[in-house]
Amino acid sequence: MTTDKLRSILFLSIALTVCFLSVPSFSVLADSNKTRPGLSPRTATDYIHAVIQADRKVYSHDIVARLGKLGLLNASENWKEENSLLLPAQFLLKSAELSNERGIGMRYYLTSLWPINKNNSPKSKNEITGLQEIARNPDAPFTWIVKEGNRWYYQAIYPDVATSESCVTCHNNHPHSPKKDFKVGDVMGGILINLPIGKQEKHAEPGKHQFPPEIISDYVHSVLESDREIYSKYIVDRLKNQNIIQSSENWWAEKSLPLPAQFLLNASRLVEKNKLGVHFRLISLWPINSKNGPANEFEHTGLETVETHPIRPYIGTSRIGQKDYFKAVYPDFAVTQGCVNCHNDSPESPKKDFKLNDVMGGIAVSLAMN
Ligand code: HEC
Ligand code: HEC
Repeated sequence: MTTDKLRSILFLSIALTVCFLSVPSFSVLADSNKTRPGLSPRTATDYIHAVIQADRKVYSHDIVARLGKLGLLNASENWKEENSLLLPAQFLLKSAELSNERGIGMRYYLTSLWPINKNNSPKSKNEITGLQEIARNPDAPFTWIVKEGNRWYYQAIYPDVATSESCVTCHNNHPHSPKKDFKVGDVMGGILINLPIGKQEKHAEPGKHQFPPEIISDYVHSVLESDREIYSKYIVDRLKNQNIIQSSENWWAEKSLPLPAQFLLNASRLVEKNKLGVHFRLISLWPINSKNGPANEFEHTGLETVETHPIRPYIGTSRIGQKDYFKAVYPDFAVTQGCVNCHNDSPESPKKDFKLNDVMGGIAVSLAMN
């Protein structure tokens, strides 16, 4: 073979290699320009609202109403002085405050045209209109897009209905309530969810904006984390330290408080019943309850990954039948010595050497794409 021929073969193979190598990088570029599947703002707030509502129901039903009926413990406005349970509205407001303080983008509140607490008054003309609209038509949330400063926001307000006589009696008789004639079934206020959508004018075009599912999944996770933290801190730990009531695994039979994990689990079942397309689970590679082990390869790899790289969730997609799902596993940390002790001491726990701040498991969130 001549040097020339050799040179041209070499050139050709280099050229081919370059060509071959550049093909995938071109397609990566093209891919990032393609519009990725997203969630409509309405689907996004429906998912977030479903999770807020499920946690609220578990707290009202499994904790407040149940312990009240058993004559063990009541909820009251001055829970601190009276060593009682927080009112459901106070629980939601505290949890929202915690989530809003994280500065993740989403904010949510409880608001009303007839608030006992003036801080819960509507903050804008839009909010007043929204509250009036849901009072007239409680079957759907009222939504709008608004510019505040130089940024656009999508806002949705969902009705908060007087589901029991106790809501009505307490509000009607409260000295600070501006309305004294609430009836069961009335809309008493609303849950406002506020999502930033961006600075450009195009964000204001109705029907155009889509949220990346990983952002909505972060918001769902923030609600879950906040509710669990408020429940652990202000209900379980506080009442245990004051020797008022304990939490235990057999909470129903033992007339105690459900464990924080069980609080989340009960809410997860409620959300499941809605069949909206949002799901979550508390899982672990070392579960006390074997049902909380990873259900598939994705959850298994996700748990292993967040244990090694706890800074961000492990994400992926899957297709079940005709539906696409976005999935994420978030690390669940041993934030208190209580987590560590109870799990290490449990005869059912396959791991006995958890330490403070270890990743003990994960919260798996899955969202159906529209
Ligand atoms: C024992 C009394 C009591 C009961 C029962 C009660 N609430 Fe309230 N609610 C309050 C108080 C007090 C506040 C003000 C909390 C705060 O912001 O400090 C409040 C706040 C609210 C708010 C926010 C607006 C406002 O009034 O400040 C809404 C909406 C609301 N409650 C709805 C309900 C619904 C729905 C139920 C029943 C499922 C219910 N409440 C049960 C006492 C009660
Ligand atoms: C008083 C005991 C107790 C405490 C405290 C406790 N857990 Fe658990 N945990 C349990 C039990 C029991 C289960 C199983 C619940 C079920 O599914 O029936 C569980 C379930 C879990 C799971 C799901 C996997 C499994 O083990 O079944 C995770 C993850 C978890 N806990 C993390 C935590 C973290 C993080 C904390 C602290 C913030 C904590 N736990 C505090 C007893 C406890």
